[in-house]
Amino acid sequence: MSPAKTHVRDTPVPGAPPIQIIGLHKHFGEPGALREIERHHARIEKARRLVAARQSSQESATPDLTGQAPENIDEPMVVKQDESTQATPGDDVTRKVMGTQPNEPETKDVQQPQPAEDLRAHHHSGLLHVLKGIDLTVNKGEVVCVIGPSGSGKSTLLRSVNLLEMPTGGKVLIEGIDIQDPDVNVDKIRTRIGMVFQSFNLFPHMTVLRNVTIAQEKVLRRTSAQARKVALDMLERVGLSDKATAHPSQLSGGQQQRVAIARSLSMNPDMMLFDEPTSALDPELVGEVLEVMRSLAAEGMTMMVVTHEMGFAREVGTRVIFMDDGQIVEQGRPSDVLGNPQQPRTQLFLSKVL
Ligand SMILES: Nc1ncnc2c1ncn2[C@@H]1O[C@H](COP(=O)(O)OP(=O)(O)OP(=O)(O)O)[C@@H](O)[C@H]1O
Ligand SMILES: [Mg+2]
Repeated sequence: MSPAKTHVRDTPVPGAPPIQIIGLHKHFGEPGALREIERHHARIEKARRLVAARQSSQESATPDLTGQAPENIDEPMVVKQDESTQATPGDDVTRKVMGTQPNEPETKDVQQPQPAEDLRAHHHSGLLHVLKGIDLTVNKGEVVCVIGPSGSGKSTLLRSVNLLEMPTGGKVLIEGIDIQDPDVNVDKIRTRIGMVFQSFNLFPHMTVLRNVTIAQEKVLRRTSAQARKVALDMLERVGLSDKATAHPSQLSGGQQQRVAIARSLSMNPDMMLFDEPTSALDPELVGEVLEVMRSLAAEGMTMMVVTHEMGFAREVGTRVIFMDDGQIVEQGRPSDVLGNPQQPRTQLFLSKVL
């Protein structure tokens, strides 16, 4: 029997930055090409595990009295077809990963998998390359405001940070943990990252209180009394104590967004990601949401905020990042980037929005 999967890396590495993004790529596009990239990654991962399993079995080789091969270790080295990858044994990519030739007898000598870059290059033309090698470190307590034109990849960047989008290249480390590492419990890491979207995504049939308690109970396994206490504290914090029994349809957009923030905060996140949290709001309701975010920043919450609110970015941001065409074009102190942009693309963008 396979040993039970142990999640060895789900506690933060002391001193590691909350968010570290290294050479991040994301492609969208033609499904066949994408699937091939995904299959390729799946095979690389499988090969990596087989290499690790073989190495550890060689290190601790003990006679097997049952005479049966240990599971996985003697698996043929051409990856079996499975539902998720639909790998075709002997196809080009499999040979590339596993190092076999057509009609060559399958070998048990595991070759190191090749990096994905070759494959990505082959398929560039069929894909929309949305993030093009993003490097970014967000330190504890920073408020990083991300600005840029529509379609530049801001949301995709944010969604990649908690694996709502699966990167097609590069790494995302959360508090030092590689969230694509198969030994990592991603769900547990996700609970430390609060995310607030433009649309509030509250459950319409539940009260405000229930909207804020449900994930605490289901995900964090808090008792209903504990969850209720936390929820009431958080609703107070966003100025909505009196709305606990209301339903979302009875609230203004600004109030609904503040409930969404309270819901995120009730999970005790170490960091918060905001994707245009005020874009769907009537202008007179924007201020109350920004005020909540301002107070969070003042309390030292690490934040990444995609926003069109340049005033907020200037006042609350510790850093502004300007993205265009899947790349970070310019970044720095808000007063520098917004007040004295160096790059022509930043200048052009700001000339339109300021
Ligand atoms: N699920 C998807 N499938 C295919 N293409 C996508 C998908 N999500 C985003 N894209 C494309 O990726 C590019 C970047 O999109 P993204 O939403 O990250 O941009 P953005 O900077 O957040 O734009 P906006 O300011 O309009 O929100 C766009 O060209 C978009 O059409
Ligand atoms: Mg967006």
